[in-house]
Amino acid sequence: MTPDLSGCSPADVPARTGVVIVGGGPSGLLLSQLLHLAGIANVVLERRSRAYVLSRIRAGVLEQGAVDLLRRAGVGARMDREGLVHDGVEISFHDRRLRIDLADLTEGKTVMVYGQTEVTADLYEARDAMGGTVLHEAEHVQLHDLEGGRPFVTFRLGERYHRIECDFVAGCDGFHGVSRRSIPADRLRLFEMVYPFGWLGLLADVPPVHDELVYAGHERGFALCSMRSRTRSRYYVQCPLDEKVEDWSDDRFWTELVSRLPADIAGRLVTGPSIEKSIAPLRSFVAEPMRFGRLFLAGDAAHIVPPTGAKGLNLAASDIHYLSEALTAHYRRGDDSGLAAYSDRALARVWKAERFSWWMTTTLHAFPDRGAFAARMQEAEFDYLASSRAARQALAENYVGLPY
Ligand code: APR
Ligand code: PHB
Repeated sequence: MTPDLSGCSPADVPARTGVVIVGGGPSGLLLSQLLHLAGIANVVLERRSRAYVLSRIRAGVLEQGAVDLLRRAGVGARMDREGLVHDGVEISFHDRRLRIDLADLTEGKTVMVYGQTEVTADLYEARDAMGGTVLHEAEHVQLHDLEGGRPFVTFRLGERYHRIECDFVAGCDGFHGVSRRSIPADRLRLFEMVYPFGWLGLLADVPPVHDELVYAGHERGFALCSMRSRTRSRYYVQCPLDEKVEDWSDDRFWTELVSRLPADIAGRLVTGPSIEKSIAPLRSFVAEPMRFGRLFLAGDAAHIVPPTGAKGLNLAASDIHYLSEALTAHYRRGDDSGLAAYSDRALARVWKAERFSWWMTTTLHAFPDRGAFAARMQEAEFDYLASSRAARQALAENYVGLPY
């Protein structure tokens, strides 16, 4: 197969660069863009083709911090034109409904509904426009001498092997990437919780059922009504882990979704043929520390949150903010304090988002064999939210995103 070099001939593979970025998802591309703007040479190595990366459907809610960072990176124009600003979110529990007025509870903060796929497309376009080096279908990426002074990365493009020497490696290659696995096991501490269910997602060109997102807790299982635009909707239902997507006809999906939504919302649902359907497992995961010598982990390579609350991409953005600032201080001023502090700074924010995502997941999902006590705890959580502004405020400040 011919590798997709996206504008680069193999001759463009430099022998040396400042930062090798492993992974061309949102973390890697955003870092590449910010470093380029700061005048720091970098190369992105992506295992998949560009078309494959752009076909992945992920969450679609951006915190204010992520929105600001994307603007600073020069990739905010289409987001500002096409993204939907939401100043509230709906939570339902069985047939009860509660609106969380994000703006009122957080002194005017909001979120931007704009798909991760679009963020990634905008980042690729910006990298192309600036002549960034993004090498796709880079196979067998290996990281070397990470603790020494002269790290280098080897990989294969088509039939040719390459070696790039660098100052630093950024591990932005997601949960299944090579970067975290390049750190000796005795130098990492892993924390993990796997949930006993998954999310079945469906994308369809139908108008959203509601003008805000609806997170629905129900005894049949959790459901989420989200959107990509005023004409494209994204819906999810909690499903058992052993379920196969082939077993879910569109009709079965719509029927299940309706059964979990409050009656007035369900009554307005417009259904239509699915464009995409997929099942994703839910996991909480953190690797500590996020640094090994000259390797810095960022995004899904270092941590995973369950999607309830849409923190995945937002955490990637805050990691990249800290890492790009630290690398810029190193190159501009010889100041390594940001690099020394990177892991602790990033993890302090990561753990709070882990807590929030775990709490939203635990509060709104049906746990098999959970017992009557846990069910009452969920009811009490919802009652508390409904009756206490302080409780709603805690939810809102986390949902719009804690400060960087
Ligand atoms: N070599 C090169 N690239 C790799 C390798 C490898 N060995 N392994 C994985 N990759 C690439 C993947 O193909 C993918 O494109 O790294 C990229 C990682 O991208 P993401 O998984 O999207 O992770 P990240 O960029 O950190 O984005 C975080 O994406 O997964 C969601 O929920 C997550 O929203 C969050 C965001
Ligand atoms: C999505 O639009 O895909 C989405 C939105 C909010 C979430 C998770 C996913 O919490």
